[in-house]
Order: sequence, then structure tokens, then C-alpha cells
Amino acid sequence: MCGIIGYVGRKPALPILIDGLRRLEYRGYDSTGVALVQPSEVTVLKAAGRLSVLEGTLDYDAHPQTHGIGHTRWATHGAPTNVNAHPHADSSGKFAIIHNGIIENNRTLRTYLEQKGVIFTSETDTEVLVQLIAQLYEGDLEQAVRLALREVSGTYGMAVVCADEPDLIIAARKGSPLIVGVGQGEHILASDAAAILAHTTQVVYIGDNEIARITPDSLRITTLDAVPVAKETEEVEWTLDQIELAGYEHFMLKEIYEQPEALENCLRGRIDLKEGVIHLGGLADCARELTQAKRIIITACGTAWHAGLVGEYLFEELLRVPTETEYASEFRYRNPIIDEGTVVIAVSQSGETADTQAAIREAKQRGALVIGVVNVVGATIPRETDAGVYLHVGPEIGVASTKAFTGQVAVLALISCFLGRRKHLSPSAAMQFMKALSAIPDQIRTTLGHADTAEKVAREYASRENWLYLGRGYNYPVALEGALKLKEISYIHAEGLPAAEMKHGPLALITDGMPVVCIATTGSQYDKILSNISEVRARGGSVIAIATEGDKDIQDLADHVLYVPDTLEPLQPLLTVIPLQLIAYHAAVIRGCNVDKPRNLAKSVTVE
Ligand code: M6R
Repeated sequence: MCGIIGYVGRKPALPILIDGLRRLEYRGYDSTGVALVQPSEVTVLKAAGRLSVLEGTLDYDAHPQTHGIGHTRWATHGAPTNVNAHPHADSSGKFAIIHNGIIENNRTLRTYLEQKGVIFTSETDTEVLVQLIAQLYEGDLEQAVRLALREVSGTYGMAVVCADEPDLIIAARKGSPLIVGVGQGEHILASDAAAILAHTTQVVYIGDNEIARITPDSLRITTLDAVPVAKETEEVEWTLDQIELAGYEHFMLKEIYEQPEALENCLRGRIDLKEGVIHLGGLADCARELTQAKRIIITACGTAWHAGLVGEYLFEELLRVPTETEYASEFRYRNPIIDEGTVVIAVSQSGETADTQAAIREAKQRGALVIGVVNVVGATIPRETDAGVYLHVGPEIGVASTKAFTGQVAVLALISCFLGRRKHLSPSAAMQFMKALSAIPDQIRTTLGHADTAEKVAREYASRENWLYLGRGYNYPVALEGALKLKEISYIHAEGLPAAEMKHGPLALITDGMPVVCIATTGSQYDKILSNISEVRARGGSVIAIATEGDKDIQDLADHVLYVPDTLEPLQPLLTVIPLQLIAYHAAVIRGCNVDKPRNLAKSVTVE
């Protein structure tokens, strides 16, 4: 979604802003722009389309300004045009603003301002905000922003500059992330740590309903009511290497290959094989309440929802607690039943997904204990949940979620064992589970060693416009995830199904040579899935089987077999998803698609 960058310091701001915008590109956008400030003048440069379009118009030597703001916009109000791109200036041209989020009462405010003679140049809600700030300005930008925000309903992460106070950025946040990087004689404002890392790892998180007054040498944060807020500077654990391609052609491929190490980081210090216990510091304070849960609701969107569904199977098996996985967007609007003893677990890579945020607010309002399973440290969801567990799989830049999925499943597996031990899980069963989980990173390495078969499969079927993915039990969510990966990056229509559902309708879809990916690893439902494979074969479908190493028999039933190492059934999704990620990746590359930035999609969906 939209991205924010701001710089106040002593270096020329323009190259810093453009580099920041490049690092925010992965979030998805359709126009870009910057505003550079100097005494008595604000220069706005913007363009619809990719960042390269804006860059093509820039003369860096002509812009020595050391202060400025920049934005990548994802259109919400108004088409993705030059005029609607951010920054937006007020009618006098003295103020410029960038803004993520939606000003819900923008129509009312627009009418009010028009009655006062303001003439608008764009259709955006953001221009309403900058015109309002300009109207309220009496020589103090911070105060004008404070007064304006009192009139505003909706969400915002915003930054504004003014030609009369050229060494200053005023930023404010409500429901849309903002971080300030603290450097030597400079501050870098951003909506995402990825845009700050090239300068510093020391950051201050701006909270909801807070205003930041940022100059090269000072940072002061206050509430909307002007009460000072004391803030600690925190260290971002991500490194610059993690957000760069490091020789890979795409971030998605890099992130697929990072999974062994990412999961090692995720599991590090959490599995104690010597003592036979799981350590989850983030849950220590509420472990008792969690153990007493009578019902668990996992809420999430997209890939995180698929991971949540694996969690549902894990919790019901290891805890014997009724668990359901709800799309966050549905949960919020269906008047959910939250009894005493209901625990809600929100799963999210970004920690910023608007639907998931709304779901946790609903759950909290109804009295549930809410736990976050999030990757991005300091994001909104971990701040709003009662407790949680971070994934620690590092930054995920590709829009298609890969290592976050395995991280989410691994964390849900850790939680299920952590709580399972306090309930029904015997020490020996827990030990077996922990050993199997510890072996997963190496087993992913082995699985990645067979990547060439995935590429071969992609090459053979990439031109097919319809695919099916079938799985049973723990591998049913993986079938859903495999189908989502394929459709979002290669634009192929794909459906994931519980294999047994085929005969209730979808079997009618099978035509000669239709690719059907069947997850057929050994386990309690192995024989059943073999029958499903036979049904597909009998109708002429081409079977691509994901099977357990050593299973030679399946070769007689399948057109292609991709092998994964043997593990416990509940942990199979951590391995079976890997070949599906690779097939989707290669299919997208073969079809010439933009793998990391698929059409119409954003990395972090911060609007409902
Ligand atoms: O950041 P989140 O995990 O909350 O994001 C949820 C979904 O938007 C996300 O998983 C999406 O489905 C991915 N593009 C899937 O690859």
C-alpha cells in the first residue's frame, strides 16, 4: 500500500527520498512524488506510474534542499494520475502533505473549505487535509496540524512541510504506521523500516494519536492533546542485506530460499530439547489464561489465513480445544460470539492488515484475550494485542508471502506444543514433536535441493489456464496456499480443495491434461488421497504429486512426483508448501509476469 518517506538533515534530500521510495516499491503503488522544502518555497515533483517515470524527470543538481517528503500512492480516492499523486500542496503552495489512510469525513470538510473559497485541484481526501491545515495555520505548523486532526475522522499516517518553517516535518499517525529513524544530525521518517535501514537501525515508533515534530537535531512526540510522550529509541533487528536481492532475480525466490535460515531464527531459543519444554516469552504472562481457553478463534487474511487453518488443526489435535479460523473481514461484521474463555489469535505478516486490525478491535471490545502472531516488530497489531509471538523470519518484500507462511505455521506449532504440554500432550509426544520441528529447517534445505523438478513442472504446464490443488487434513490448507500462490503471481486460475470434495462437483472440471497438484504425503489419509488421484487420472487429468521421499509406488499414479522428507503429519505443511511455492514462482517467470509486484496487489493491505 502507500508508502511514506521524509528526510530532515544536512545532506541533499532528493536522492535519499528516491532511494527510500525505491525500498517502499514492494508495497505496491501507482504513482510517486516528492516535496522539497527551502525557505519560502516548497517544490513538488510527482508522476503517475512507476518510480522510474518520476526519476526520468529529475535533475538532482537542481535540488540541493536538505529537507523533504516523498510518497508512493495506491489510489483510493481519485484515479492514479499526476494530479492525484502525493504530495498535495495547498492553494498557496506553501504547504505540502503526504498521507496514507483515508479521511472519512473528507466530503464534509471539502464542502466547508469550498464555502470558505478554497479551490481544489485534485479529487483526493488528502488535499482536503492540507487545505485545512493551511486554513488553520497561524505561524505554528504543529499547532495547525493538531487543530486540523481534531476535525478529521478516519485513518492517517501523514507528514506535512511548510515553506515558512523549512527545517521541520510534522508527522502524525492514526491506524497507519510511522517510524522515525534517528541518525547523526538527521532524522528519516518512514512508513516502513525498509526505507530507513540504509541510514540507521535506531528508530522511534510513533503511536496512534501522536504527533511528531521532527528537525535534523530534535524529535519531539506529543499526543493530539499536546501531552509530551516519552519514547525509547529501539533497534530494528532487520539488516540491509535482508531487503536487497543479493544476486537473486526476485525477492520471492530469495525468500523461498531463505526459509531454512528464517525458520532457524524463528525456532532459535524457543525449543529446549534438554528440558523438553517450549519457551515463548511473549505468552508467559497469559499462559494460564490461554491454557484455560474453552474456544480459540484464529483470524487472518490470505496466506496468513491458510497458516491459521493449519493452526486450527494443530490446536484441536494437540490441545483438544475447539478452534475455528475466520477471515478477519468476515469476523468483524458477523456479530461474532465471544464467550468467556474465548481466545482470539490474529495472524499477520505485516501486522498492519486493516481487516485483521479491525477484527482484533472487535474481539477486544467483546472481552476476548487477543494474541498476535506477527512478523514485523513494532507494527500496529502487536501493539494492540494483549500478548504475542513474533515470527522473526526477517523482512518479506515479495508480495507473495512465502517465508511468512512457514514462519506462521512454525509459530502456531510452537504455541500448540507450548499449551499442549500444559494440557493433554504427554512429555514423550511433546519431545517427539519438538525434535521433528527442530529438524524442519534442514528438511526444507533438502526439499529446495529438488527445485529443478518444480521448474520442469512449471515449464510443462505454465500455459494451462486452470489448475487444481488437492490436499487432505493438514495438507488441505497447503492446497489452498498453493493455489493462491499460483493465481496471485502468474494470473492462472487455480483452486485449492479438500481432495474428497472432488466428487461433489469439481471433478466435472477435469479435462485432458488439466494440471492437478495432489499433496499425497504418507500419513493417516494416504490411501484416501491415492483414490482421489485415481479419480483424477481416470478423467484424463495430469497429476503432479507431492510425496514423501522413498514412496516409489506413487510414480505409477502420477505424471510428476516432487519429494519432501518424512516428518510428523502436523508438520508436513512446512515441507509440502515448498514445491508449490517454487512451481508458482517458475510459472510466473515463464509467463513473463512481474513476480514481486503482481498486478492489482499490494504487500500490505491497509484499507478495508
Ligand atoms: O500482512 P498479512 O499477513 O496480514 O497479509 C495478509 C494477506 O494480505 C497476505 O497474506 C496476502 O494474501 C499475500 N499476498 C499472499 O501471498
